[in-house]
Amino acid sequence: MMTTGKSILITGGAGFIGSHVVRLFVNKYPDYEIFNLDKLTYAGNLANIADVANKPNYNFIKADIVDAAQINTLFETHRFDAVIHLAAESHVDRSITNPMDFVMTNVVGTVNLLNAFKNLWKGAYEGKLFYHVSTDEVYGSLHDGGFFLETTPYDPQSPYSASKASSDHFVRAYHNTYKIPVVLSNCSNNYGPNQFPEKLIPLFINNIRHNKPLPVYGKGENVRDWLYVIDHARAIDDVFHKGKTGETYNIGGFNEWKNLDLVKVICKTMDEKLGRPAGESEKLITYVTDRAGHDLRYAIDSTKIMKELGWQPSLQFEEGIAKTIDWYLSNQQWMDEVTSGDYQKYYENMYAKR
Ligand code: NAD
Ligand code: DAU
Repeated sequence: MMTTGKSILITGGAGFIGSHVVRLFVNKYPDYEIFNLDKLTYAGNLANIADVANKPNYNFIKADIVDAAQINTLFETHRFDAVIHLAAESHVDRSITNPMDFVMTNVVGTVNLLNAFKNLWKGAYEGKLFYHVSTDEVYGSLHDGGFFLETTPYDPQSPYSASKASSDHFVRAYHNTYKIPVVLSNCSNNYGPNQFPEKLIPLFINNIRHNKPLPVYGKGENVRDWLYVIDHARAIDDVFHKGKTGETYNIGGFNEWKNLDLVKVICKTMDEKLGRPAGESEKLITYVTDRAGHDLRYAIDSTKIMKELGWQPSLQFEEGIAKTIDWYLSNQQWMDEVTSGDYQKYYENMYAKR
């Protein structure tokens, strides 16, 4: 469904994926007025989108989606024709420590946005759209082969995935009950520039650089399906402009890696880029206590978006991971800034007892 409106709210645009979506929309659609709404939590960083900050069609709003009154006022003021909702608490390990933060932002925050959208347009939904960005983790864990399809029953296993599943249900319920035009997508693991170094790939790149242990959970046998973040942003563009109202699109790279194999690729590439002897970084691998309730395997079947919307990933993994490592190595100031302050405390708490 193509929205005819021009005022687009993107939530979470200072985060990892959101910053790539904001950049793509600001640059590709100069006629759209883009509003990036972000609370700037530990994961939000305006440096991620500094390159578009002065564009005439870009606006930044610092706000918390949990604050219903503030969100309603912003919708009344800016009359957003469409929403692309990415703001979330996104790290599984943090959801195990602080589940309530995930209930508040991911569930209550999403319902606040849906209510504000409904209160503003009051049923006059022609040309309007609420796009909810979600995750493959809502489908649970694959144990016996196969892939997640759009029709796979929900079976979330972590507080994070339960909160995202709940938000997906609310979005569909508002479509069914109030006829809000919605579209959803559920994507696999993203990697690329600007990812906060609590997630596997940037964390391990940074640890290798500092010769710190690489904490592999369990035996490193869990499998994830990795997609370059810019390919996810391109898919979001396609779903936003060409997706059918009420539908869900799975997004993934058909690119499954066992954690340990992926870590070895990172180690090998880092050795080459840092001019270290072959095998040096692999010596940093340390097996630590597994994540509680650790999902074994995620794998997305993205046939629907490929066939119906013509989306294709643009990068092979080998090229994507090399580009990603290059980005972190040439943006060490970015990494140093985000790992100063509270990050050290987080790292201690998360890893000291493993
Ligand atoms: P991130 O943690 O890097 O960024 C989240 C952003 O949301 C941050 O800028 C943060 O400041 C903002 N935010 C958090 N709470 C907020 C609140 N209460 N109000 C306003 N802003 C708030 O996350 P990400 O990895 O970029 O993920 C973005 C979205 O994509 C999430 O909805 C996530 O569930 C989904 N997703 C992520 C992946 C992945 O691999 N990272 C894969 C599939 C889907
Ligand atoms: O599948 C999509 C999801 O991918 C997104 O919805 C989440 O927002 C995103 O964080 C990601 O979740 P994962 O839990 O898969 O990502 P993470 O980078 O935290 O972990 C990837 C794998 O690596 C997982 O099996 C756990 C393991 N791991 C992770 C860390 C941080 C380790 O072995 N050691 C670590 O230190």
